[in-house]
Amino acid sequence: PTTRVFNLTVSEIQAAPDGVLRPLLVINGQFPGPLIRVNQGDRVLVNVTNQLVNGTSMHWHGFYQNGTNWMDGTTSITQCAIPPGESFLYNFTVEQFGTYWYHSHFSTQYTDGLVGPFIVHSPEEAKIQEMYDFDQVVLLQDYYHDLSTALLPGYLASGNENAEPLPDNGLIQGTNFFNCSSYDSDSGYTCYQNSTRAIFNVAQGKRYRFRLINTGAFGEFQVSIDNHTIQVIEADSTLVQPVTVSRLPIHIAQRYSIVFHANQTATNYWFRAHMNDLCFSAENPVLDTDVRALITYTNTTSDPTESVDWASALDGSCEDLALSDLVPYDPLPAPQVDITYPIEVSFQIGNFALDKAYINSTTWVPDTIPTLNQAVAGLHANDANFTTSGVSSAYDASQLIIDVPTYKVIDILINSLDEGAHPFHLHGHQFWIMASGAHGDFNWNSYPTLNMTNPMRRDTLTVDAFGWALIRFKADNPGLWAFHCHISWHMEAGLLMQWQTRDDIMKGWTIPSDVLALCNAK
Ligand code: C2O
Repeated sequence: PTTRVFNLTVSEIQAAPDGVLRPLLVINGQFPGPLIRVNQGDRVLVNVTNQLVNGTSMHWHGFYQNGTNWMDGTTSITQCAIPPGESFLYNFTVEQFGTYWYHSHFSTQYTDGLVGPFIVHSPEEAKIQEMYDFDQVVLLQDYYHDLSTALLPGYLASGNENAEPLPDNGLIQGTNFFNCSSYDSDSGYTCYQNSTRAIFNVAQGKRYRFRLINTGAFGEFQVSIDNHTIQVIEADSTLVQPVTVSRLPIHIAQRYSIVFHANQTATNYWFRAHMNDLCFSAENPVLDTDVRALITYTNTTSDPTESVDWASALDGSCEDLALSDLVPYDPLPAPQVDITYPIEVSFQIGNFALDKAYINSTTWVPDTIPTLNQAVAGLHANDANFTTSGVSSAYDASQLIIDVPTYKVIDILINSLDEGAHPFHLHGHQFWIMASGAHGDFNWNSYPTLNMTNPMRRDTLTVDAFGWALIRFKADNPGLWAFHCHISWHMEAGLLMQWQTRDDIMKGWTIPSDVLALCNAK
């Protein structure tokens, strides 16, 4: 296999991507981080150098990491943070293809700028490549003018569990217009009235694949292009049967590829990523939810004069596209289930009067020693402790870890008791979405009649407010795998649990010494 080497140096600078000057975390001096593009089957070496004053890590969102769980980049689960001033070499083989991204997995740090796209090509793309002439990565994200470390204490204070920090702006390709007059002179912000929107040049008659990635912290976007319909062809990294829509919801950490045909009058149009603040508990007066980029047929920068705005009629729902609209292009039947775990998601007043998020009765607090390291040590010492499936008692009470010692097919029934939507992500796997609903509960009587032939599979799905979902995965990938709400505030509030799978393989593991050495920082 080909080996591809990348160097990512993480540092903090002062920058003004939307005109407002702020401390920003950047990768190789860039925000968003550089595109990583490889072929399926490649071995990827990424040397991450930490020039921050805090620890960091890099997670490769959506990759299986089969046999390399310690390269998953998840601090306190698969590694200790890379200490300030040090480097760590991630080394893994990419078995999949499609649209992915990478981001820091240390507290809420990715929210401060440590994100980038990761695209994997494959000969298997040939079958869809005839649908488009150009292939373009498009990064969408909500955006704060303050570091997440400054916003967190307020959010975690008592009584604020529904008061997530509200984005100040939304960015497309790391940029957007911001009106400096939104801040008065004593706001403390330096704002340069020179910010611009992203521009996409198109040629009439051509078809464009946009690989949308929501790298944000909190906000769902409703994506549309004035006067143009869009065809969805990929969700996360799963190719789907093309479905035509006017408007596409994309929640945190999700990816969609859309194709549109530049077949309208040769002028300028808005590409819209409308931030769905109906999903927020309050309004931020400085936020313009109508986040836009320019699509120009004429290589000009003037604002569009005519438009059919598909995004104007927002409703309060923060759900994904209907399951019936998402049909994988390459069928993969769901296997029969072995074990079903119900989990309940809620926010409650926890210890020390802090508001915390709970999965069942546990609120996650990052452990000092990665749970992977603890698991391997435990399996070496006495693997009799790890023989039956269920909640493992081998860890601190703050770790909800379901141990599945041998290969099994697992259903997770997620039941949200919370009034917000939660984009849930499972590391190391794609899961099948067997059923989901916006209200009420899964009807157990429907269990025998679920669609098994070709249900949608992906790695991040939205469970709507008070909603539920039944997802199925093969516990065939050895390691410790985070399952969490990807809203960065919610993960930090404890909305994370873990799956420990294939102890029968893990007990033969030796974690590489450079990974273990990260925990020896002075
Ligand atoms: Cu995008 Cu736990 O990750």
